[in-house]
Amino acid sequence: MDKLLIQGGSRLEGEIRISGAKNAALPILCASLLVREPLVLTNLPHLNDVATMIRLLTNMGVASTLDGAEAGVTLDANGLTQAVAPYELVKTMRASILVLGPLVARWGEAKVSLPGGCAIGARPVDQHIKGLQAMGAEVHVEAGYIHAKAPAGGLKGARICTDMVTVTGTENLMMAATLANGETIIENAACEPEVVDLANCLIAMGAKIEGAGTDIIRIQGVSALHGAEHAVMPDRIETGTFLCAAAITGGNVVLQGTSAVYLEAVTAKLVEAGCTIGGDANCISIQAPARLKSVSFRTAPYPAFPTDMQAQLMAVNCLAEGTAIIKETIFENRFMHAVELMRLGADIHIDGNSAAVKGVEKLEGATVMATDLRASAALVIAGLAAQGETLIERIYHLDRGYERIEEKLARLGASVRRVR
Ligand code: UD1
Repeated sequence: MDKLLIQGGSRLEGEIRISGAKNAALPILCASLLVREPLVLTNLPHLNDVATMIRLLTNMGVASTLDGAEAGVTLDANGLTQAVAPYELVKTMRASILVLGPLVARWGEAKVSLPGGCAIGARPVDQHIKGLQAMGAEVHVEAGYIHAKAPAGGLKGARICTDMVTVTGTENLMMAATLANGETIIENAACEPEVVDLANCLIAMGAKIEGAGTDIIRIQGVSALHGAEHAVMPDRIETGTFLCAAAITGGNVVLQGTSAVYLEAVTAKLVEAGCTIGGDANCISIQAPARLKSVSFRTAPYPAFPTDMQAQLMAVNCLAEGTAIIKETIFENRFMHAVELMRLGADIHIDGNSAAVKGVEKLEGATVMATDLRASAALVIAGLAAQGETLIERIYHLDRGYERIEEKLARLGASVRRVR
C-alpha cells in the first residue's frame, strides 16, 4: 500500500490548477443512465472514485470512451444490459447508490447493493428509498440489496419532503423525477453547488428543473432526455484543502480554475484566522501570516461550513494562536483524524460531537494513519507544517478524492514523496 512521506517546514508558494469536483462528477456520470444518446463530460477529475463509477456503469453495458486531452469521457447507455450494482463495487464507494434513481426511471427496475456503514458514520439511504416509494416505486431490501421497481407506466411525480438535508438523496430523486409522469417537488432539498451542477447537466439533456440551489426543487417530468455536453464544476473541497495547506505554512498561493463563490464559509474562516483572500471568477489567491489565529466553526449543510472541510480546518487550528471549538453536526463519527493529529503533538479534546483544539507552538513529524478521505487531507496539511518527517499510511483514501496531490503540493514547493 502506498504511503506519503512529507518533510515539513516549507512555505507553499506558487500556482496550481484545481481539478473538476468529485462530488459533482459522480452523480453526473450516473445521469448518463437516463439517456439512449451519448453524454460528453469534460473537466472530469482523475480519481479512483471516478474510475470506480465508470467501471460500475460499464459493468451495466454503458459504453465509455476516455478523452485524455480534455479530461473527458463520453458515456453511451443505449446498450444498457443490466440494472445491477454489485456489492463488490458499491462497498468501495457509497456514491454508487446514485445509479438507483436513474435506473428505476429509465429501465423500470434496479438492484443495488446497500452501501452499509462507513468510517465516518452509519449513513443510511432510507430517504432515497422513501422518495422513490413516494413516486410509486415498489422497493424491498433482500440479502443486502435494494430491489426497486417502477409502477407500470413509469414513476409518478410526487411531493417529497426529506427528513434531513441529504446531498446524494436529493440528486438521486432529482434524476429519477426527470423521467417521471408529472411534477415532482423535492422539499428540504440540498442546496450544495454540486446539486446545481447536476441540475445544469440534466437541463442541458432536456430536463425541466427549477429551483436547484434552493431548498425546493421542482421537476416537470419529460418522456425522454437527449445527449448533451457538460463541463464538471471545480472541486470546492480540493480548493479548500489547498487553501488550508497554504494557510498553515504561512504561504502565498494562487489556485486556478476555481472560485471563492463556491466556498465562502471556508474563505470567511481563513480571513478570520488572519489570511488575505483575493481572486476572481476563475481563481483564488491566499496570503497567510506567519502564525494564524484560532477559528471556531460548526459544520452544517450548504451554504454553512462543509463537513468535508472540517478535518482540514481542524489541522490548521492545531498550530494557531488560541483555542477553537469545532462542532460536527452532519456525521456522528467524524473526528478520527483528531487522534492522529495528536500523534503529531496537537492538543485536542473531544466531547461527543464537539472538539476543543488548543493551538500549540509546534507539531512534530510522526507515522500516522489515514482513516478516511478528508481525514487524510488533514494529516497532509499538518505534516506540511510539522517539524521533521511525517509518514502517512493508507493513502488510498486520498487517491479516492485528490488528483495527483503530491505533484500539486510539490509544484508549490512542498517536500512530498509517494512511497510505494
Ligand atoms: C455527500 C457527499 C459527502 C459529504 C456529505 C455531506 C457526495 C458523493 N458525497 O454525501 O462528501 O460529506 O454529502 O455534505 O456528494 N442520511 C440519512 N438517510 C439518508 C441519507 C442521509 O440518515 O437516506 C443522513 C446521513 O447519515 C448524514 C446526513 O443525512 O448524517 C447527510 O448525509 P448526505 O447529505 O446524504 O451525505 P451523502 O450524500 O452520502
